[in-house]
Amino acid sequence: MAATSKTAALMARGREFLGSEYAILCGAMSWVSERNLVSAISNAGGFGVIACGAMNPELLDREIAGTRALTDKPFGVNLITMHPQLFELIEVCAKHGVSHVVLAGGIPPKGSVEAIKESGAKVICFAPTLALGKKLLRSGADALVIEGMEAGGHIGPVSTSVLAQEILPALAEEHLVFVAGGIGRGEAMAGYLEMGAAGVQLGTRFACASESIAHPDFKKAFFRANARDAVASVQVDPRLPVIPVRALKNKGTEEFTAKQIEVARLLDAGEVDMGEAQLKIEHFWAGALRRAVIEGDVENGSIMAGQSVGMVSKEEPVADIIAALMAESEAALASRAAA
Ligand SMILES: Cc1cc2nc3c(=O)[nH]c(=O)nc-3n(C[C@H](O)[C@H](O)[C@H](O)COP(=O)(O)O)c2cc1C
Repeated sequence: MAATSKTAALMARGREFLGSEYAILCGAMSWVSERNLVSAISNAGGFGVIACGAMNPELLDREIAGTRALTDKPFGVNLITMHPQLFELIEVCAKHGVSHVVLAGGIPPKGSVEAIKESGAKVICFAPTLALGKKLLRSGADALVIEGMEAGGHIGPVSTSVLAQEILPALAEEHLVFVAGGIGRGEAMAGYLEMGAAGVQLGTRFACASESIAHPDFKKAFFRANARDAVASVQVDPRLPVIPVRALKNKGTEEFTAKQIEVARLLDAGEVDMGEAQLKIEHFWAGALRRAVIEGDVENGSIMAGQSVGMVSKEEPVADIIAALMAESEAALASRAAA
């Protein structure tokens, strides 16, 4: 720890809040963030987060128990706010005494933050804007994650650097704010910590760790890719809202654009109504990430990845990735102090 004391000092609030050695979260990644990766992250001193995604309460129950069996360190659970069984999932987390619940995918529904807090767990929410960040804190969120559009997976429209400049000076002194999106090296982590972040969250950098169960072909696609291969999906028709997803471009991403055009034509012809049209769009991607991560279908599946993918070139144990991030951060802080 002494060798990374400057970084550790800047992480002090985040480490205390998370109960981990380093204030480095591995953001929940559907299909990837299961017991093996989550426990490896927490055992290495980071903070692992289970991605509940579309799991039902029974599956989540098993995943939490499985993770507990592999680590006695704290870890979190990420729940999607629009999950139809959100409150049952919260009960499962409470039953296991999960210490931190991350609410992703939109404004938490009424009563959800309270239900989590009643179980004694801390609540972490995503803040897409400063105004919403303030509102979430007023509603009881214990910490915020701000995530820029460089990130892998579902993204907002604003970059990490701009969100950090807008939100950290206003909130980070009094509140815990973690920064995510596009962080591939420790120098960037040091920069956000110096701006007041309590810690950082990375996904892309950890997705292909040795302990990740992602298919070897999914990992190979990451190792081959550059930043410019990780593209955001485009919405072709203003009537059909699509939350952009950043993923490596492949046949699947091209077909998604074609699918939207096809559905818009059906809508024009009056062959489907708006509800059916939107459902067709949503269903297109359902299971696509699983196809890529688990089955290794990197042609037609969704290889969600952030722009930092170009900095992922080989399989490495989680502990080595964390050690590299800490060393790079410390060297950056030391050289600034010496200047
Ligand atoms: C393959 C993949 C799947 C993801 N799935 C989810 C998810 O299910 N829920 C979620 O809140 N975020 C998800 N994310 C976002 C990550 O939790 C994390 O915030 C993001 O990867 C951080 O940015 P980075 O990719 O630039 O490191 C996913 C990201 C990736 C790369």
